[in-house]
Amino acid sequence: MALSRQRTYYKAMRRAVATLNSSASAKEKLEVIIRGTARSMKAGTSLVLLDANRKKLIHSFSRGLSQFYLRKGVLDAEASLSEVITGQPVIVPEVAEDSRIQFPEVAAKAGIVSMMGIPVMLGGQAVGSLRIYTKERNEFSNQDVNFVTTMASLAALAISGVLSPKEEEAGVIKSENLVETTPLRKVRPATFAHPSEEEFARILDFYNIEWVYEPRSFLLKWEGERVTEMFTPDFYLPGLDLYIELTTLKQSLVTGKNRKLRRLKELYPEVNITLLYKKDYDHLLAKYGVGPLAQTRAHGISRVLYSVSEIDGRVRALARQISKDYADRHPIMVGVQRGFLCFMADLIRQITIPIDLDFMAISYYSGDESSVVKITKDMDLNVAGRHVIMVEDIVDTGITLNYILNHLRAKGPASLSVCTLLDRRVRRILDVPLDYIGFEVPDEFVVGYGLDYREEYRNLPFIGIPRIEKKRRKKIGRQKD
Ligand code: IMP
Ligand code: MG
Repeated sequence: MALSRQRTYYKAMRRAVATLNSSASAKEKLEVIIRGTARSMKAGTSLVLLDANRKKLIHSFSRGLSQFYLRKGVLDAEASLSEVITGQPVIVPEVAEDSRIQFPEVAAKAGIVSMMGIPVMLGGQAVGSLRIYTKERNEFSNQDVNFVTTMASLAALAISGVLSPKEEEAGVIKSENLVETTPLRKVRPATFAHPSEEEFARILDFYNIEWVYEPRSFLLKWEGERVTEMFTPDFYLPGLDLYIELTTLKQSLVTGKNRKLRRLKELYPEVNITLLYKKDYDHLLAKYGVGPLAQTRAHGISRVLYSVSEIDGRVRALARQISKDYADRHPIMVGVQRGFLCFMADLIRQITIPIDLDFMAISYYSGDESSVVKITKDMDLNVAGRHVIMVEDIVDTGITLNYILNHLRAKGPASLSVCTLLDRRVRRILDVPLDYIGFEVPDEFVVGYGLDYREEYRNLPFIGIPRIEKKRRKKIGRQKD
């Protein structure tokens, strides 16, 4: 190796150690380390850090890499280079030929040919990686690896200084504290672009679902290094690894958005994204007694969807299947009030094996800023080590069921399955596993057989579609009176 190179490495390390020992902030220290690494390697350099869930890698500090490359999206820690998992350096001489590169087309457009990833270890655990990107083919020498490893250790020391004593006790490393480019914000933004987004955020808060508003942009089109089209989803739910886009705008704008979404799915197949249309959104709010649909009334039934005998047939079939699957397991069947009532009553009378019965109740969203979901009546039976079957009337967005399943899982059941009479899959936001399904219902509100429209119609023996009055819309803003 050329002596000049050795000197450059030595100088970068000496500078890094000097700042570490100074009163500079953690951010400043990391900047010096990253800049020194980039200059000495004559390469793009990025410090990627694991998020609090240890699932995602987030580009935090970078030098010599275009915004174009950095904005390519959040990386999946498991599917990305393995250095963060194994704690070993990884060298990729040909990015284009390597399946471990998550956004090869973006890397290629940015002119990246080779890369190297060195784990950043803190207390024996990888907290991120120091990554080097070169525009010319590079096999990376031992000296290169040793140098970047040293810089990664120094970066770890800088990071450890970022932790407040309290966080250190808990052993949590918050990459969000360090992120400089496109941070994943934990805090509620001061302003949402649209009131519907704020209301949606409140519903997520109600269910204790962690969210990030407008987490980042995905590149959709580019010419050379110039970005010509981007897409920024409204929400990201880190716990569920899910992006959500609310389409509460005019129908005329939906087509354009759908096209963008299709492109996003093509370019980033590993990204989970759900689109919520205005209709879905209004129904979601109405369920909680807020929004435009909440003021409407139903005037009778416009159509019977499932007759008494059709329901009876399906319930018998489900009961037969459950009796077979749970023979010798003595399950607990548990329902969440109140919609499950008719279904549960009929179902258990067709089940031919011993069962226990229990039920729960939860509080519903009130549109109140501070409200949080509460279990107003928990199960009475002890769940630990038992086989539990959740019985639901209908699974719509899946938000309620997701919450209840998490609650029950924490009690340590031997197994947990879900039996729902109705499944409205088209409106699903959260992907919850369903084991027994009566009917897959179309995208229409249904009542009867326990299900209500604003507490009415539960006592109908069949399931039907209510005739809901059209809400007269006032034109807002344009009127002069
Ligand atoms: P999710 O949390 O959106 O899945 O909502 C599930 C709950 O909303 C169900 O248990 C029902 O109580 C209620 N629900 C959803 N859709 C309907 C419907 O079409 N008719 C009556 N209640 C419904
Ligand atoms: Mg329910």
